[in-house]
Amino acid sequence: MIKIAVLVSGSGSNLQALIDANLSGQIAGVISNRPEAYALQRAEKAGIATAVIEHKQYPAREFFDDAMHQQLLAWDIDLVILAGFMRILSAKFVKAWEGKMINIHPSLLPNYKGMHTHQRVLNTGDSLHGCTVHYVTAELDAGQALAQGVLKVNVHDDANSLATRVHVLEHIIYPQVAEWICNGTVQHTQQGVLYRGQLMQEPVQFCKL
Ligand code: GRF
Repeated sequence: MIKIAVLVSGSGSNLQALIDANLSGQIAGVISNRPEAYALQRAEKAGIATAVIEHKQYPAREFFDDAMHQQLLAWDIDLVILAGFMRILSAKFVKAWEGKMINIHPSLLPNYKGMHTHQRVLNTGDSLHGCTVHYVTAELDAGQALAQGVLKVNVHDDANSLATRVHVLEHIIYPQVAEWICNGTVQHTQQGVLYRGQLMQEPVQFCKL
């Protein structure tokens, strides 16, 4: 059985969706860089081991990342899921977990990497928006996309309503992709990412118009 660690910094609604999905893998631990993150309470309520590793207590990013790396090794983790984890990871850490670490980003990547995606979508006047689950690579929000949730931007949408609507999609596609990795539907190989045994060319799209 695949052992999963979820890295969080905040509310952890995506963590909750992963817990509620009863994955065929085991969520073996949750790491937060912030002791006050509500996600920690969600994990404890579900009986999942937690670790608080505060970035502020380390003199440099590499030391903080190394502490997380050691915790992941101690839990014998196979898959790292970033769920609202608000720290940039060092290249060394990303390399160590390459092909074993996924993230969810609130935009239709490659559009709108980085922050404030909902407002940027509104500013541009895009008709479609959504979220993307992708493998994590050294370049921010640039690893291979595995799945996208797509929605239509309404005339009355503001950044808050878009955030809420995108969250609904996140809670559907993130557990789905996690399960695909747990049960071997998605595999990261030397040849590339396989989906149902075939090279994956494009992310699987889920629509909620
Ligand atoms: C989500 O919007 C996700 O796209 C981004 O961080 C947020 C996490 O929300 N990476 P939550 O803590 O899971 O509620």
